[in-house]
Amino acid sequence: MPATPRTYTENLRPPSSPLHGWPLTGPAPAGSLHPLTAASPDTPVPSPLVELRSVTCGYGERIILRDVNLTVPRGAVVALMGTSGGGKTTVLRLIGRQLTPLSGQVLFDGQDLATLDRRGLHDVRRRMGMLFQFGALFTDLSVFDNVAFPLREHTRLSEELIRDLVLMKLDAVGLRGARDLMPAQVSGGMARRVALARAIALDPDLILYDEPFAGLDPISMGVAARLIRALNDALGVTSIVVSHDVEETFLIADHVVFIANGGIAAQGTPAQMRASDDPLVRQFVDAAPDGPVRFHYPAATAEQDYGLEARR
Ligand SMILES: Nc1ncnc2c1ncn2[C@@H]1O[C@H](COP(=O)(O)OP(=O)(O)OP(=O)(O)O)[C@@H](O)[C@H]1O
Ligand SMILES: [Mg+2]
Repeated sequence: MPATPRTYTENLRPPSSPLHGWPLTGPAPAGSLHPLTAASPDTPVPSPLVELRSVTCGYGERIILRDVNLTVPRGAVVALMGTSGGGKTTVLRLIGRQLTPLSGQVLFDGQDLATLDRRGLHDVRRRMGMLFQFGALFTDLSVFDNVAFPLREHTRLSEELIRDLVLMKLDAVGLRGARDLMPAQVSGGMARRVALARAIALDPDLILYDEPFAGLDPISMGVAARLIRALNDALGVTSIVVSHDVEETFLIADHVVFIANGGIAAQGTPAQMRASDDPLVRQFVDAAPDGPVRFHYPAATAEQDYGLEARR
């Protein structure tokens, strides 16, 4: 019996990928070393691309994350998993500085985001590609124009060059032929891939994915997962993937971080997570409806709500 697949890198390379011509089987592109899987005593460990240091944050009075420390190594695919409402999207907002911590620091490539002025922030954000939860395309723009949008907004490249770049990015997600379609004419899985092409338009160093698999059928989900890993390695980028989907995520992630109860409840490689006896990790990995994470939002007892107590 074959060993249980652990990571995409170990088991699925070389993938049958839509990335024609990308160096998937050749030497890893510069900067795509996976410190978590490839580090040896002789290899100098590069500084992390993203780091959260003792971050506490929230919305208004409500604290969502308390004293969180998180390290995202360059070239890695790091998965953020955990309970709904636990603060996964909030972590992405911290990294994009849409949200500033109440205390602690968020560092991108060694720079404390809180110290950046408008220009500095603009430059840093240009280095991040974001695939939003429910990632919406501009509905009145064609697939081509959606991908061209960030290039037209942020660069002064000629239309001719933009055309070549857009077609390259669309090719990377297997949708070069769909360039003239409108968003209403593509499927949900295709729309997700168009959004991905748009997220990589400016050649980011970091790609943030919020629920890239939500609402996809198993086949499209597999395609999306492989694409995330393949793009990560071919482009030499770093990826942070927020997902609920254990199977797909464990297949492509180097490192998994579980967020629950206002902090990081557990983290490690997918293999370590599978072997973990932490009840919260088990509940997630085994998809158990109840465990440390309750199915029901805290509420009055059913008896109280249905007035049964009073009738007794
Ligand atoms: N803009 C906001 N203002 C006030 N509260 C917010 C805001 N955004 C999120 N929250 C709250 O912060 C908590 C964490 O939200 P977040 O979106 O980070 O969760 P999540 O882990 O991404 O959940 P899901 O898996 O459901 O997307 C939730 O309780 C949410 O209600
Ligand atoms: Mg979310």
